[in-house]
Amino acid sequence: MTEETFVPAASEWYYPSDEVVKNAYIQDYDAAYAEAMADTPAFWAKRAETLDWYQKWDKVLDDSNAPFYKWFVGGKTNIVLNALDRHIKTWRKNKLALIWEGEPGDKHTYSYWRLWQEVNKFANVLRSMGVKKGDRVTIYMGRIPELVIAMLATAKIGAVHSVVYGGFSEQALADRIEDAQSRVLVTCDGAWLRGNIVELKKIADQAVHKSPVVEHVVVVKRTGHDVHMQAGRDFWYHDLMALPIASTNSETEVMDAEDPLFILYTSGTTGKPKGILHTHGGYQVYTSTTLQWTFDIKDEDRWWCAADPGWITGHSYIVYAPLILGATGFMYEGAPNFPYPNRWWKLVEEYGITILYTAPTAIRGLMRFGDAWPKRHNLSSLRLLGSVGEPINPEAWKWYHSVIGGNKLPICDTWWMTETGGFMITPLPSVGLKPGSCTRPFPGIIADVVDDEGNSCPPGVEGKLVIKNPWPGMLRTVYGDPERMVKTYFSTYAKQGWYLAGDSARRDEDGYFWIIGRIDDVIKVSGYRLGTAEIESALVSHPSVAEAAVIGVPDEVRGNVIYAYCLPRAGVAISEELVDKLKQHVRDEIGPIAVPAKIEFVSVLPKTRSGKIMRRVLKARAMGMPEGDTSTLEE
Ligand code: WT7
Repeated sequence: MTEETFVPAASEWYYPSDEVVKNAYIQDYDAAYAEAMADTPAFWAKRAETLDWYQKWDKVLDDSNAPFYKWFVGGKTNIVLNALDRHIKTWRKNKLALIWEGEPGDKHTYSYWRLWQEVNKFANVLRSMGVKKGDRVTIYMGRIPELVIAMLATAKIGAVHSVVYGGFSEQALADRIEDAQSRVLVTCDGAWLRGNIVELKKIADQAVHKSPVVEHVVVVKRTGHDVHMQAGRDFWYHDLMALPIASTNSETEVMDAEDPLFILYTSGTTGKPKGILHTHGGYQVYTSTTLQWTFDIKDEDRWWCAADPGWITGHSYIVYAPLILGATGFMYEGAPNFPYPNRWWKLVEEYGITILYTAPTAIRGLMRFGDAWPKRHNLSSLRLLGSVGEPINPEAWKWYHSVIGGNKLPICDTWWMTETGGFMITPLPSVGLKPGSCTRPFPGIIADVVDDEGNSCPPGVEGKLVIKNPWPGMLRTVYGDPERMVKTYFSTYAKQGWYLAGDSARRDEDGYFWIIGRIDDVIKVSGYRLGTAEIESALVSHPSVAEAAVIGVPDEVRGNVIYAYCLPRAGVAISEELVDKLKQHVRDEIGPIAVPAKIEFVSVLPKTRSGKIMRRVLKARAMGMPEGDTSTLEE
């Protein structure tokens, strides 16, 4: 039924130290959960009251048109009001908002004051290009501060950002620009990765060629290598920011709580990525509450979320939530093992990082280099650790806990999705942990593991993970395709009105959740979310492939890797060279993250009599396991 992942026995417990508990915002999870459940809208209203609003809401939750829920109805706000504007009126204007280090070792810091000014300036630049409230701006950049500035500036003027991860190819970028109909693209000349330049501007040029809807391209100079600049269309960021029009006087657009903030594309069961839409009001309440309570962010902290801003983790927990909380965040541009495998640990030491939040794949990758690399560094500034993106196997959990965490730091394994906006099932630092379990739902969230009829599964029995009530950070729609939102997330348990996560899970006798993996045709590779259909359609778009089937196969470091089975077109000669060509083709169509680890040519694909490819059979074969029930197999 599922992407099989190792699920350990739920027997080992780790308890946080008295100091961790004493520091925690929430010291009694059960009491906080009970309070939130007693009156959930009142609970969220209380959280929303910690933020600034131009005008207070009339109604916390409008569920009259479920599943198109509305939160803080009638409220007027702007997430930038909370992320920046309010801080520069306090002592925080002098506080560091962002500390950044580039891969080559260059460093920049931004106080709240400076970040606010840069955002204001770029907001005026965007306005001068005719970007208005509701317009979409696509952002395609490396991990540099200007990416954060571009996102905030877009939000500030009420436009909608669509950040496309810098690892995507020209075709993937073009598709996303088209879908969002963005007239402005913000990019950079290149990005540093493992000592090499990723040619982002070049890729952007090809994408814009394919989607002529783009009228203006803003280019940040990062690597300084030669790039093509098309007169009248392309402008250097630093030139624009030096114009008188780029003044630091910039009004923040007053937004309705339910006005769109961003679109973020993510993979699903079809070849076409879904544009997940989030809004200003509920999202700001949800992300800031979840970050504050889960990672206990304090003014003294130096928070490092090592994700890319191009994914939801970066949107919520590099950009918005930490700034709303007035925290100091750290961001690093490049590869974790460049130039040596101690880079991350060196950064932790040098910047005095107190909380590190990353993905199991990164932990496993760094673990492979051995303990000597982290042990050379003083990591004693760390006080909490976090994990996200895929199940963390107990071996990696224990290494993270003991070698990085000095045998004492709790690991907050946060389960959530692009669609949920923020953490859904996660430990608060004061609760007991079991390696491999993301523990229990955040206060205000009702999560369950159910069978096909919707009955709760008994402890230890695998079922579908559902969320049974709405929450402020939930997706509002799939951009341009509201039906798809209903169909994908709310049709399986339509009668009950539950949200279907798409993961399978178990719950143990203590009520702790153990995520097993995706139940749909989504594969997590190094924490990246890829759809089998996307990769298959990339493969069959090559002239030598008639049919293709893609599966995920467990991998020690990457969680899963992709195996592709291709049926060649008649007369096509099979060769190693063709395998390389197909890999390159997938790279061009989607990006390096989607390239199959293995491509095998077959003369027939296992199918049901109705013509559906039986990926389960391919997977069993790939793993040398019994093929299970093949009675529906057409030979
Ligand atoms: C899928 C969502 C949300 C940030 C990054 C991923 C998997 C996410 C965990 C976790 C086990 C996890 C699920 C989920 N996932 N966090 N802590 N334990 N699995 O966002 O790309 O939208 O992917 O990631 O399968 O459905 P995403």
